[in-house]
Amino acid sequence: MGRLSSDMLDLVAISGSLRAESYNSALLRNLPELAPPTLRFTVHSIAGIPIFDQDLEAQGKPAAVIRLHQAIRGADGLVIATPEYNHGVPGGLKNALDWLSRGPAPHGLFGIPTAILGASDGMIGTARAQYALRQTLVTLNAPTLPFPQVLVSLVHKKIDATGRLTDEPTRAFIRTWLVEVERWMRRFPKHER
Ligand SMILES: Cc1cc2nc3c(=O)[nH]c(=O)nc-3n(C[C@H](O)[C@H](O)[C@H](O)COP(=O)(O)O)c2cc1C
Repeated sequence: MGRLSSDMLDLVAISGSLRAESYNSALLRNLPELAPPTLRFTVHSIAGIPIFDQDLEAQGKPAAVIRLHQAIRGADGLVIATPEYNHGVPGGLKNALDWLSRGPAPHGLFGIPTAILGASDGMIGTARAQYALRQTLVTLNAPTLPFPQVLVSLVHKKIDATGRLTDEPTRAFIRTWLVEVERWMRRFPKHER
């Protein structure tokens, strides 16, 4: 059955940062109020996923990996908010993707439409991390929204102590981006994966 364009899309959102006061996690919490009403977000955590080890994998996938895998495969799309650590993808996020890329086909990200965003307190707004993340997502055949790109620089001036995104130009840009996210996700319907 085809999907009506008015149907809701269920998106899983994950943050590459585990810290409680994470700006990237805060960005995700701001998405629902900026998004079209037809997008629904469920934030999942990568906390508790052990370092990937093929010997550990041979004993069975950890519960935290299985939960995330099932949530992503059951969703209409994935949103990843990534910090930049030393010009790259934070190890914990890359580790989670490595776990998700394993197992019987289809793996966790195969064919899953994905959109990425990121925030840093520096000037470059995670550009280098996002570029590296894109390379991994291409390898995993997770079609990733190419444009526009959400690179939130100087984030400490744009998100307040309660986690609210206060910078109006950034709010407006993310609103526009979310319209494109929805269009992108609808190009890769779940029943065609
Ligand atoms: C190990 C580490 C490496 C970092 N490397 C970079 C970097 O290469 N580029 C950058 O813009 N910020 C870098 N930062 C600063 C982060 O952008 C900043 O801590 C950001 O707030 C982390 O995201 P979060 O708030 O979601 O935890 C680094 C931070 C840490 C902890």
